[in-house]
This record gives sequence, C-alpha cells and structure tokens, in this order.
Amino acid sequence: MTSSVRKPFKIVGAGVSLPDKVLTNADLEKMVNTSDEWIVERTGIRERRIVESDVATSDLAAGALAQACGDAGLSVRDLDTIIVATSTPDTVFPSTACWTQRKLGIKGAAAFDVSAGCTGWMYALELGVALLMAGTSRRVGVCGAEVMSRVIDWTDRSTCVLFGDGAGATIIEKGDGSTGILASNWGADGNLAPILYQPAGGTQKPATAETVAAREHAVYMEGNAVFRHAVRAMSRAASLALDDAGLGPDAVDLLIPHQANIRIMEATRQRCGVSSDRLFGIVDRYGNMSAASVPVALHHARRDGRLADGSALAVTAFGTGLTWAGSVIRM
Ligand code: UT7
Repeated sequence: MTSSVRKPFKIVGAGVSLPDKVLTNADLEKMVNTSDEWIVERTGIRERRIVESDVATSDLAAGALAQACGDAGLSVRDLDTIIVATSTPDTVFPSTACWTQRKLGIKGAAAFDVSAGCTGWMYALELGVALLMAGTSRRVGVCGAEVMSRVIDWTDRSTCVLFGDGAGATIIEKGDGSTGILASNWGADGNLAPILYQPAGGTQKPATAETVAAREHAVYMEGNAVFRHAVRAMSRAASLALDDAGLGPDAVDLLIPHQANIRIMEATRQRCGVSSDRLFGIVDRYGNMSAASVPVALHHARRDGRLADGSALAVTAFGTGLTWAGSVIRM
C-alpha cells in the first residue's frame, strides 16, 4: 500500500431497502409531456422505485439497517449509534433516526439525523468515523434514506423524472487500522441554498392552504445551475482527496459519485482522470435517491464483487445547501 489510513474504520456490513414498485420512463410519458428518449439522453435514468402510500422514510431506513446488520452477522441491538441522513424526514421532530429505532423495536442507542441533501450519507460517515475515533461509539449504523416521491411536483416534468425512493445503510466499526479513510474533505456554500430547496413547510414559510395550492412543498430546482456546480464541486472534492491521499487516478479501483445524472457522473470522472471502466453507476435503475444514492451504490458494488479487501474507493457527492464531500477509502 502506498498510503496510510488516517481515519481507521471498517465496513462490516451493508444493506438496502428499495421499494418493489417500479416507475418507468414509459409510465412518466403518460403523466407529463416527456419522452423516454429525452430522459435517457439527458439523465441516463430508465426507471426508479416509488414507495406505497403507507411507507415513510423510517420504514426504508429500518429495512436497510436491519439488512446491513444481518450482512455483518449482527443484531440491530448491537448498534450503539444510528445516524440517518435524509432530506425527507418522517416529521420535523423527532428525527427520522428515532422513528427508525422505534420501528426496529430497539432502544438505548444514540439516534439522530444529518441534513446535507444528497451529500448526507458522506457527512454522516465522516461523523460516524469521528465518533469511533473519539471512543464515543463502537458500532455505528450510517444510513441514507429518502422518500423523494413525497416532495415532488408530479406535474413538473423538469424535476419529476429525476428522483426515486430508497435507503442504503452501512455498519462501521473501528477495525484493526488497515482500512478506513486515507483522505477526505467536506464543505458547503450556503449562498447557493436558493437554487435547490423546498420552499414551504419550515419556519421561513410555514404550511398554509396557499403554500399547498402553489405546490411550494415540492422540490424547487434551477437545474442548469445545479448541474454546473455539481460537476465542479464533486470533481474538486474527489481530486483533493486523491491528492491528500497521495494517490493518482490510476490507483483508484472504483469511483462512486453521487448518482444524480449520468452526464454529471461522467464529467466528474473525466475531470478526475479516472478510467471509464472504474465508474460505478446505478442511476439507470433507481434515479436520484438523494442521500440514499451513494450507500445503495456501495452495497451493489460490494455485492457485485467490484470492491475487494484492499481496494481504493473514491467517493464524492454534492447536494442541496450546496454541500459537497470527497473521500478516498481503503476497503
Ligand atoms: O442531487 C441534486 C439534484 N439535482 C440534480 O442533480 C440536477 C442537475 N441538473 C440536471 O441534471 C439537468 O439540468 C436536468 C436533467 C434537470 C435538465 O437537463 P438539461 O440538459 O440541463 O436541460 P434544460 O433544463 O436546459 O432543458 C432543455 C429543454 C427545455 O426545453 P426548451 O426550453 O429548450 O424548449 C426544457 O423545457 O428540455 C425541456 N425539458 C424536458 N423535455 C422533456 C425539461 N425537462 C424535460 C422532460 N422531458 N422531462
């Protein structure tokens, strides 16, 4: 190995919870003025999963955490900390992590949410690793979970084709020090908050009959501006992490960028200089699941044998805020 682990942790299990119901581009053609051709060409998305009406974000988070604990040979009772990254919480308070704990039928573990949009799971991982290093926690469930379908204006073709529902969870422990974060960085620019947000429902603009009628509880997004910032932020964060880790792009075994749009992912890969066979994508199958995208992709990569012990994994994300993060992880 050419570089040393600076923040030790080991992924001991991973899991997902993905709704059964598939919404295809052909289904969307019947709902808004769009086409399969436009969606595939501009985004790379072919289908996404959508929850049934009685499912909340915590149901998906509980499913993903239970599967991840099973993968690790553990019980959910063995977790001492639960972090749920989400922008689509069950309720404003308490946290989705607390609702998740209730649904898992456990108590005692510390439970809280992280709000960093699509960067949420990466922010949560950074926090989880810090808790392990500080000795505050011994085993952390780091989950990204979203029910985006509840905050979408299904009459707005510029946003409704992009998102999907799902959850991904990762169980982390300190490990023996041979695995973990080689280098990482994170950041935000709150000045860009107005280009991607949910206008109503918080203290800025509480819910009223008027806000509901004006569809202000749905995602507002300036797509072109978000696209430009996304490519810049993700490629910069990943390249910085690689430089800090002392690794060139050829040393990256797999690049997992946030799964928003295949064009954003591809532009990020090119700017980082990573070869195309090392870009991992699931956006065609699931759309943009916000904070769930990276952990769901990570689960698929592990399951598909794309990550072995000792692999160098580059992960990068951006999201509402705008927030961003980049990490190089020795698996
Ligand atoms: O996780 C963070 C969340 N957000 C993102 O990552 C989104 C970042 N942005 C994007 O991915 C892209 O900007 C979009 C996919 C949202 C849009 O792609 P674009 O290539 O930037 O298209 P555009 O917004 O410039 O729109 C081009 C045309 C417009 O028509 P005119 O004005 O040229 O006649 C749109 O009205 O495409 C039209 N359009 C559509 N046409 C068919 C927009 N949405 C659709 C649609 N179907 N669904």
